[in-house]
Amino acid sequence: MSKIKIAVLISGGGSNLQALIDSIEKGDIAAEIKLVISNKVDAYGLTRASNHHIKTVVLDRHTYPNLEERDSKLLEILQKEEIDLVVLAGYLAILPSSFIETFSNRIINIHPSLLPSFGGKGYYGLRVHEEVIKRGVKVTGATVHFVNEETDGGPIILQESVGVEFEDTAEAIQKKVLKIEHQLLPLAVKLFAEGKIEVVGNRVKLL
Ligand code: GRF
Repeated sequence: MSKIKIAVLISGGGSNLQALIDSIEKGDIAAEIKLVISNKVDAYGLTRASNHHIKTVVLDRHTYPNLEERDSKLLEILQKEEIDLVVLAGYLAILPSSFIETFSNRIINIHPSLLPSFGGKGYYGLRVHEEVIKRGVKVTGATVHFVNEETDGGPIILQESVGVEFEDTAEAIQKKVLKIEHQLLPLAVKLFAEGKIEVVGNRVKLL
């Protein structure tokens, strides 16, 4: 089977990136991570990528002060590398509409809640889990979805839940959720690589 070419976009620690690298190295997914792009120069995920000899690019305010130039550079790099799938793994920046259109149903994101709950603008990092505690829900989880114009609103590919205990702190929930994220993201990429995802309207049919 031919390998799909992936670009992973990050802003931080990159534990999801690591899970993906590990799955690919184990031979579970017919894919190659062509490059890792970060909008933060000090993102630890960049070190993880370099440790595995994956090309890295930093696209931030310093390298490209003009947002439009930064956005068109991103598109240019991905097209030059002939990227099949863009994976947002903790990427904290807005993608321009032109980009989303160009890579329609070829950008996936991992979100640390059971969407549509605790998603949308402002729901990122520990904030998500703090809101989970505040609302008192008994289950939360992770979602992998395609990216469309609506923040966290694209077709859902996979979801998995974890229980919330009364004593759980936001950090404890984050830890539990990350554990399942590390299984869900590689699985979603595998399904994509094997052509097992069909988008029907705003829903996904797994083949
Ligand atoms: C994860 O919780 C992911 O769901 C969210 O950002 C976090 C990234 O974590 N989008 P890491 O950088 O992969 O460790």
